[in-house]
Amino acid sequence: MTTSTITGHGETLRHYLQVSDLDRDTLLNLIDRAIKLKNNQKAGRPYRPAIGRILGLMFEKPSTRTRISFEAAMYHLGGNVVFMPSRDLQLKRGEPLKDTARVLSRYLDCLVVRTYGQEIVDELARWSSIPVINGLTDEHHPCQILSDIMTVVEYKGRNLEDLKIAWIGDGNNMAHSWIQAAARMGFSLYLACPRGFEPDAAILKKARDEAGDRIHVSNNPEEAVDLADVVNTDVWASMGQEGEADSRREAFRAFQLNAGLLSRAKADAIVLHCLPAHRDEEITEEVLEGPQSAAWDQAENKMHIHRSILEWAMELQED
Ligand code: CP
Ligand code: NVA
Repeated sequence: MTTSTITGHGETLRHYLQVSDLDRDTLLNLIDRAIKLKNNQKAGRPYRPAIGRILGLMFEKPSTRTRISFEAAMYHLGGNVVFMPSRDLQLKRGEPLKDTARVLSRYLDCLVVRTYGQEIVDELARWSSIPVINGLTDEHHPCQILSDIMTVVEYKGRNLEDLKIAWIGDGNNMAHSWIQAAARMGFSLYLACPRGFEPDAAILKKARDEAGDRIHVSNNPEEAVDLADVVNTDVWASMGQEGEADSRREAFRAFQLNAGLLSRAKADAIVLHCLPAHRDEEITEEVLEGPQSAAWDQAENKMHIHRSILEWAMELQED
């Protein structure tokens, strides 16, 4: 397993700040482990390797799934959770991130952070002596991508190299995590974004240097969805972009995932949406609630992958 090398302590901690922190085997192991933990849980076998451990959740943006699934994951593992809305911390009155990170490291065993800039989680990780996990920034959503690919594995099997995965919509944090995952995990990724809303050029270049010609970006949703095995979309205005919602609605109109667009994919294609969804904007009610939607399994899988990530990050004993 590889570990992130960001640390101010000369030691190597298991931070997970973006998908490219981890190598292919580690990513696949996290998914395989989550599937095993899910099966064990459904069979009623308790697993409590985190008794006596405390997970901190420092959240600056709203969350339903990530917050509650991390909390549930930690409780299922036998541990405890402290939820910290950033607005209630001295951070909001100017206390430096490096001081916050060092103090929290004395109380907690692991920290999940949801915030705006990626540099915030990077700085927290640099000064923490506990693992730091990115629970979404403006640039990346690396935990989400693992539950999404876990869902793909459950529906399509483990031969990811054989799959065409389409991303329709914004070149946002989710798109960046998909791009990094494609570089590491071998599937073909076709992104279709409106002009001016393509993914970050530096993230794309780095992934393409690794993945060769498996990552495609166009402004053509039909081409991206043609014969795809998996079709993904996400909101047109992410958290923090609420003021752009009207102009984005205009720019993204031709990128709605509706029955017509989906009919171009393979007949057994699945639809993913990390949620929350805006019905009849980026996805129609018909598609989100239709037989090809895997969005609800995808949401459930967040809890299982979070158990796997926490177990890995805190180096808890495996059964
Ligand atoms: N998918 C996801 O991260 O959802 P929340 O914003 O509700 O956490
Ligand atoms: N791109 C979305 C994902 C939400 C889980 C956002 O950042 O708001």
